Amino acid sequence: MVAASAPGKCILFGEHAVVYGEPAVAVAIDARVSVSLEPCQGSWKLGGAPLDERHPHARFLHSQLVGDDTEPHAMVVTSELFPAAGLGSSAALSAAISAALMHREDDGDGGLDLERISHLAHNAEAEAQSGRASPTDTSTATLGGCVLVSDRREESAEWRWTRTLDTPEGERRWEIHSVSLPESVREAHLVVGSTGIHSPTGEMVAKVAGMLERQPDRMDEIARIGELSRVGAGALAAGGLIVVGRLMDEAHDLLAGLGVSCPELDQLVAAARPTSLGAKLTGAGGGGCMLALTTEPEATAEAIEMRGGRVITTSLGAPGVRIER
Ligand code: PMV
Repeated sequence: MVAASAPGKCILFGEHAVVYGEPAVAVAIDARVSVSLEPCQGSWKLGGAPLDERHPHARFLHSQLVGDDTEPHAMVVTSELFPAAGLGSSAALSAAISAALMHREDDGDGGLDLERISHLAHNAEAEAQSGRASPTDTSTATLGGCVLVSDRREESAEWRWTRTLDTPEGERRWEIHSVSLPESVREAHLVVGSTGIHSPTGEMVAKVAGMLERQPDRMDEIARIGELSRVGAGALAAGGLIVVGRLMDEAHDLLAGLGVSCPELDQLVAAARPTSLGAKLTGAGGGGCMLALTTEPEATAEAIEMRGGRVITTSLGAPGVRIER
C-alpha cells in the first residue's frame, strides 16, 4: 500500500490578470488532499466505485501511469479542503494520485520527479476542463511553498520549469518559479474564509473578458494587478509583510472594480481588515473564498466566522506533494 498527499492553494496576487499573460503568485496551504492505494478485487476504483467519467482526473492519470496487466487498486481519497471553492482541490488530488501511482511499487525514498508529477497533474486538469487549464494550482500542489507563474522568466523568483499545453486556442506556455520565503513570512498566518457560495470560474473569466472588450482601456487595471504580483513576490521574499498586506488590499479593490467580487466576499474582507495586514478575495471570485494575512489569526478567524464564513487558518507555503508511507 502507498499513500501520497498534496496541498491546496490560495492565490495571493494575479487572479484574472494571469489569463492575459500577467504573473500570479500562489501559496500552498496547510490543508491537504490524501490518496492511498489499496489492492482490491475486480477493477480499479475510486470512492468504492469503478473509475469512470465521474472521475476525469483519476481516469486520465490511470490511463497514463498504469498498464493493463496491473493488479487493481482502490484509490481512497480524504480532503481537508472546502470543495469547489477555488482552493485547488482537483489539482491537489491530481498531484497526489500521480505521486501515488508513480511510487506504488517502491518505498518512495528515491525522491519524487516533481516536474513529471506537475506535468501529469496539469494535463489531467486540462483533460477535465475542455483542454484549458492554467498550471497555477498544479504547480503549487506539486512544488509547495510559494509559486510565481508568468508568461516570461521573472527576475524576482527562482525559475523551475516551462509548462506548455495544447489548448483549443493553440499552444500556451508558462514559466514556473518558486519564491523562497524567509522564516518570518512562513510563520505569519493566512486565514482563508469561505462564503460557502460556489465560485463559477468560467463565468467570472468570461465576465472580465466581456468588460475588456467593451472598455479596452481597463487593460491598465489588469497590468496593475500584474505589477502587484511582481512587487508582491519581491516583498514576500524580503519578508515585507506590511507591504504584502497593503498590496493585497489594493488587489481586492482592483478585482472588485473588475466586477468579480460579490457582497458576501466584500463583507468577509471588511470583517477581517481591522485585525489583519491585508485582505482580499482569492481565486475567480463571485463566491468562493477570501483570505487575510494576519499576525492575530484567532481574532481574524473569529471576525470572519461572526459574518458567517467558514475558516481555514494556515501558515504560508506548506510542503508540496509527498509520499506519506
Ligand atoms: O478559482 P481558482 O482559484 O482556480 O482561480 C481561478 C484563477 C483565474 O485567474 C480567475 C482563472 C485562471 O485560469 O487563472
